Amino acid sequence: MAVILGIESSCDETSASICIDGEIKSNIIAGQAIHANYGGVVPELASRAHQQNIIPTVDQAILEAKVNKNDIDAVAFTRGPGLLGALLVGTSFAKGFALARNVPLIEVNHMQAHILAHFIDEPKPAFPFLCLTVSGGHTQIVLVKDYFEMEVLGQTLDDAAGEAFDKTAKIMNLPYPGGPLIDKYAQLGNADAFQFPEPQIRGLDFSFSGLKTAILYMIQAEEKKDAQFLENNLYDVCASVQGRVVSILLNKLKQAAKQTGIKRIAIAGGVSANSGLRSTLNELGDKLGWTVFIPKFEYCTDNAAMIAIAGYHKFLKADFVDQGVAPLARMHV
Ligand code: KG4
Ligand code: ZN
Repeated sequence: MAVILGIESSCDETSASICIDGEIKSNIIAGQAIHANYGGVVPELASRAHQQNIIPTVDQAILEAKVNKNDIDAVAFTRGPGLLGALLVGTSFAKGFALARNVPLIEVNHMQAHILAHFIDEPKPAFPFLCLTVSGGHTQIVLVKDYFEMEVLGQTLDDAAGEAFDKTAKIMNLPYPGGPLIDKYAQLGNADAFQFPEPQIRGLDFSFSGLKTAILYMIQAEEKKDAQFLENNLYDVCASVQGRVVSILLNKLKQAAKQTGIKRIAIAGGVSANSGLRSTLNELGDKLGWTVFIPKFEYCTDNAAMIAIAGYHKFLKADFVDQGVAPLARMHV
């Protein structure tokens, strides 16, 4: 039996999870409401909150999984990418735990882990498959050849998809993080109400910074005619923004599927919680004969279950790191 403790602390969620023989037994996530007051994640405050949350979060994960600390065979932690000060808390905790209990230490790449969240529940994708990883910091189309053999086929040249949601939400004076709110309001609006241009980027790369500017100019122009424009059209603006982000993402995904001939298509990362992306991907998949893989909501945004499952697959290969390991703010898939 292999009992893995997973730790995630790369951004603003402190999370701990227990995985037994590839099955997730607990996944505790402590969010950090403080950042909403500042309109974005404040790195120093994130580090401090991780420091306060990590012990109770791990205790809760162990309690819920009904295991004993002595039963844990290895500890897996997010090494990067992420905020360095935030990563240091999880890394230091994992190192201390491994040292105290004399168990191996496993480093996990956060972006790989988002993809490996697909190996938590059935149906699990067969290799190779394509994964559109969309989060607050990344937008990538990844060719997944094996658990830890991945190739980035395309990525954003500027803002990430989650950033596009959060920054446009800020323009509309919505609180941080704006993605989930735009999603909620979009469901009440008309996606054809406003048109935003599709960026002309060759190949499989993305660009989202133009969209943000187009929305800003549109709102400014409309507000000159009607000071209440945003109040009166909030749902339609949200639906139109979301519609465009989704179409940018799916057009590139379609291109990647055509180029590689792969029909197993997955999405991962925080933005894969978006209802518009999920439903449009399902429709597109039906039309094009794809097998579509969409994670459960709790495994879309940052969580330690994905770290624990990635850790489990490394544990099977005895892929361990020593106590000298340090976190990395930047880390490639
Ligand atoms: O993967 P994640 O939790 O953290 C990073 O590693 O970045 O992703 C967070 C991002 C944020 O930009 C948030 O606004 C976005 O995911 N997000 C959403 C939704 N839920 C989270 N964006 C659109 N619709 C959602 N339902
Ligand atoms: Zn993430």
